[in-house]
Amino acid sequence: MNVCDSGKILHLFADQDYQLTSDSRSADLIVINTCSVREKPELKLFSALGRYIPLKRRRPELVIAVGGCVAQQWGDKLLERCPGLDVVFGTHQLDSLPQLVAAARLSRKPVSSTDFLARPGGLEVMARPTPAAVSAMVTIMQGCDNFCSYCIVPYVRGREYSRSSDAIIEEVRKLAEAGIKEVMLLGQNVNSYGLKASGEISFAELLGRIQEINGIERIRFTTSHPKDMSDELISAFAALSKLCPYLHLPLQAGSDAVLKRMGRGYTAASYLEKVEKLRRIVPEIALTTDIIVGFPGESEADFLQTLTMLKKVGYDQIYSFKYSVRPGTRAADYDDIVADEEKRDRLARCQALQDEISQAILLAQVGKIAEVLVTGPSKRGASEWSGRTPESRIVNFSAPTKIVVGDLCRVKVIEAYKHSLKGEVVADAGS
Ligand code: 5AD
Ligand code: SF4
Repeated sequence: MNVCDSGKILHLFADQDYQLTSDSRSADLIVINTCSVREKPELKLFSALGRYIPLKRRRPELVIAVGGCVAQQWGDKLLERCPGLDVVFGTHQLDSLPQLVAAARLSRKPVSSTDFLARPGGLEVMARPTPAAVSAMVTIMQGCDNFCSYCIVPYVRGREYSRSSDAIIEEVRKLAEAGIKEVMLLGQNVNSYGLKASGEISFAELLGRIQEINGIERIRFTTSHPKDMSDELISAFAALSKLCPYLHLPLQAGSDAVLKRMGRGYTAASYLEKVEKLRRIVPEIALTTDIIVGFPGESEADFLQTLTMLKKVGYDQIYSFKYSVRPGTRAADYDDIVADEEKRDRLARCQALQDEISQAILLAQVGKIAEVLVTGPSKRGASEWSGRTPESRIVNFSAPTKIVVGDLCRVKVIEAYKHSLKGEVVADAGS
């Protein structure tokens, strides 16, 4: 989500004749886009500001702006805490950033704007397409109404707001015209897309409309909430040929007691039921998930249930985190804290088990033929290309014939590495 927002910021300023530089000492503007979902984002921000603000001594015209979740949480107070900072913009003010920067430049006074709006600004801004990109992110909604007890997102991104389907479709059409082959639809909880906007189509219907756009070959989306994974959406995986057999379905924990205290609205059994339904319809579907270890009150037995779920589901990959307190959330008041050492140990065990599972899944691909969307040359050398299968597995492969980024190639998998596959082209798709 933040990567997409940073792309939008680049687009806004490219329209104003700014150019991207990797040298902060020569910059006229530095924008820091923050995320506060986990860890200690303030520490990272303050250390970045500690590096950038002194640059103003030699370049008084430099403007420094901070946006994203941390800016939203701090508001004006960030200006008091960080003298030399010029602009604080909230998660609903992304589209106003150029005006805020211009106002700070003109008045030579710091400005801050972090109010929540009825309609978050910035949703209609397109992320700047990178040259030769084949894949693009499209925000379809912002905010979240779920209030999971550990999560800061509803407080910093505001209430759930869905963009109009017409605007989304128009954006995808433009991307297709610009040569984009794959779209990743983004939202905190895409399954509830449109439900709160009167007359809006459902998420599954939106996918159906995007399927009809010529030029788009692959559709992905993230993030889905297991409790809102409807039968209609599950069926879409079978009905829509462009919808990739890949789903990120955050589990968070395998113990029902922990899930209840997290406020997730499902049990391990109901989660598994959805997975089984999906696998009946799309047997090859690749699943990934998010896991939090060491949530307050998580016992060793609770944690073992998370490991059991990893084995039962067989995820391609997991994103696992130690629980970290987010001030202002319900769980911040929970007692029965798990010691950091225990959290670290659980995280390591969780990741070690997942490494084995991921490896077995990759090994099982050897000998199969996959359709690979070429994303660029492989990092390993000039003669190799890199791309992804519909299940989002990375494949590096050699090709005897000319290949360009964006091609769909039929690749035979010949070897499995720790995080990727190696293959060789058999023939172009469709030939
Ligand atoms: N501590 C640890 N992980 C968290 N996440 C969200 N809030 C926290 C927290 N307080 C994780 C969840 C979520 C992912 C984006 O970040 O797993 O799905
Ligand atoms: Fe956070 Fe829960 Fe919303 Fe995901 S669904 S953003 S974890 S509150």
